[in-house]
Amino acid sequence: MRSYFIAGNWKMHKTVPESVALAKELVAGLRGCGEKLLVAPAFTALAAVAEVVKGTNILLGAQNMGPEEQGAHTGEVSVLMLKDLGVKVVILGHSERRHSYGEGDELINKKVLLALRHGLEPILCVGETLEEREGGRLEAIVGSQVERGLAGVSAEALKNVTIAYEPVWAIGTGKTATPEDADAVHAYIRKVLARLYGEAAAKAVCIQYGGSVKADNAVQLMAKPNIDGALVGGASLKADAFVPIARFRA
Ligand code: 13P
Repeated sequence: MRSYFIAGNWKMHKTVPESVALAKELVAGLRGCGEKLLVAPAFTALAAVAEVVKGTNILLGAQNMGPEEQGAHTGEVSVLMLKDLGVKVVILGHSERRHSYGEGDELINKKVLLALRHGLEPILCVGETLEEREGGRLEAIVGSQVERGLAGVSAEALKNVTIAYEPVWAIGTGKTATPEDADAVHAYIRKVLARLYGEAAAKAVCIQYGGSVKADNAVQLMAKPNIDGALVGGASLKADAFVPIARFRA
């Protein structure tokens, strides 16, 4: 049976005790859930949440990382530090990083390659703004974010990459792309991947949808052939909102 990848991006929320409490509720609420599950707390809570999720069906993720292994990079967190804490997955190129902190495709690509080199699974986030969509540039923007984000990634390494399609206008706004709209963009992303890596490799890539995913729209989104999971923001901050999303099949 197809397994979906349901991830919670906690963004800049929660102290360490709050993170631990949520992680404990999720461990209890998601016991036996067969999907691939991830929580990505703030850097400061990674070590404590790692202890809670160790040995469970929930993977530990980080929300970003520096583009270098180590060195004089004040304020950055390195891939080695993340691995040290038991982090398995790293979210890269989130639209908040792109738009609020000026991250471009070249920098994001450097991080993707570094993560893969160290055995971390990157979630490469892509997505257009409303202005880009309304200007008819959706495919050009998303296609180039995918292609440039994956530059230098081998077909073998691609197996460890997840793409998250997060239309910027749908993040935290309560506006979800319709399942049909999202599926069409996911199909386009697969077409780009097929051009770069061939049909079979493209088919195997997990493409998550992100942007106001809630329990009441998860079923319709996951029913679409090209939607393989969800990257959840706001609704991942409470167990009673996230658990039903992850258990959307129940
Ligand atoms: P929301 O679910 O709050 O819209 O956030 C989506 C997101 O950005 C996940 O990375």
